[in-house]
Amino acid sequence: MKPKTSIKIGLLGLGVVGAGVAQTLLQKGPLFASRTGCTLEIKKILVRDIAKKRGAAVPEALLTMDAEEILGDSEIEIVIELMGGEQPAHDYICRAVSSGKHVVTANKEVLAKHGPELLSMAEAHGVSIFYEASVGGGIPLIAPFRQELIANEIHGIQAIINGTTNYILTKMSQEGLPFDIALKQAQELGYAEADPTNDVEAHDAAYKLSILATLAFRSDVRPADIYREGISRLTPKDFKYAQELGYAIKLLAIGKLNDGAIQVRVHPALVPIDLLLAKVDGVFNAVYVEGDLVGRVLFYGQGAGSLPTSSSVVANVLDLAQSLSTGATPRPNIRLDAPKALLPFGDIRTRYYLRVSVADRPGVLAQIAKVLGDHLISISSFIQKESDESAQTAEIVIMTHLAQESAMLAARTDLEKLTTVYEIGSFIRVEG
Ligand code: NAP
Ligand code: HSE
Repeated sequence: MKPKTSIKIGLLGLGVVGAGVAQTLLQKGPLFASRTGCTLEIKKILVRDIAKKRGAAVPEALLTMDAEEILGDSEIEIVIELMGGEQPAHDYICRAVSSGKHVVTANKEVLAKHGPELLSMAEAHGVSIFYEASVGGGIPLIAPFRQELIANEIHGIQAIINGTTNYILTKMSQEGLPFDIALKQAQELGYAEADPTNDVEAHDAAYKLSILATLAFRSDVRPADIYREGISRLTPKDFKYAQELGYAIKLLAIGKLNDGAIQVRVHPALVPIDLLLAKVDGVFNAVYVEGDLVGRVLFYGQGAGSLPTSSSVVANVLDLAQSLSTGATPRPNIRLDAPKALLPFGDIRTRYYLRVSVADRPGVLAQIAKVLGDHLISISSFIQKESDESAQTAEIVIMTHLAQESAMLAARTDLEKLTTVYEIGSFIRVEG
């Protein structure tokens, strides 16, 4: 490849991240030229509505509502996709790649659903797709998996990878707020979107886990392979009881290797308060990785936001520019190992927290203990939290030892059949 002294860029999207990336490239041009050996020029920026008022100091002449002005421009060598959503982002990435353009994207949904096909397509066209910002915003994660951790067999990932839900859980825990009030605050601060489903029902975290698990276990993991449960059913009572028992409640994304099979799940979990993950508060993200050589490493930082995310996007652009400026071929895509099986979710083993509303009369605890015992589930603690004498009801909290998920679900069904059990208010897994 011929060395370049100038590279033209097309930007798809000028929202939270796009505006940060545009400003960074415009303001730090001379520095980046000296670091990469070539100048970077934004030639066009695609937006949905050109008339929209924008805070970003970007020349209006750069804006277009016609994607063809970027995808059909043979001078543009790097396309930065920051529109979000599956379509038309996926189509535009395919078109950019098939016309020989390198792509940098922060789009976890597209990467999680179509990553392996897109990376193969890019390889066939001799271009790269870089996606550092798709997981963990400004935290370097994709590059360490591709490079610095490549000598390891990764045994597990345990992560908080959604800032919006972590903010909501922090508010519920520290201020005793119900879920809907904490969500409203997150929306007012601009963390949660008007439609918060993607974040609170854990789709966003599942997309990110699918990308991380594919890199970590070198096997194709898609969002549909991941067990997913959101945070909308958690109540202030659970935070209070968890704290009394020495736990925080976090939305965890977990990937583990069990005898060569991959388990992948995203759900709320009780986490012992003395673990670092329990102390990750607000919109921060943290990812623990465990490898056979390196042991445990922790990545921590701002998982979202305009400038932190721009840090990752622009790093990918500069990496590409460095290669293009010297005529070198950009870094190759990762190679996957032979495919690994997925562990059925019913086969996972963990501990459980149950909050149960029962009739407050003799023999009820014995009935519950018998149901759990019949399913080979051992109780580690059994606490009566509250009773209402007039209604003759009591609330109990049960913590189990390690048990198999399928046994626990069967026990839950049997508990619900007892006439003395009025409601299983919460059923939360416990991770150590
Ligand atoms: P955003 O604020 O909603 O911005 C989206 C931009 O894309 C807007 O400028 C919008 O144009 C444009 N756009 C959307 N659909 C379009 C279409 N069909 N045609 C033309 N333009 C279109 O999104 P964002 O928060 O910057 O997120 C961008 C990407 O980064 C997403 O994939 C997201 O998951 C990822 N990401 C975001 C963060 C974060 O902190 N926000 C962190 C990590 C990763 P208008 O301005 O005219 O509406
Ligand atoms: N909605 C995401 C979050 C943005 O809250 O973490 C960053 O990907």
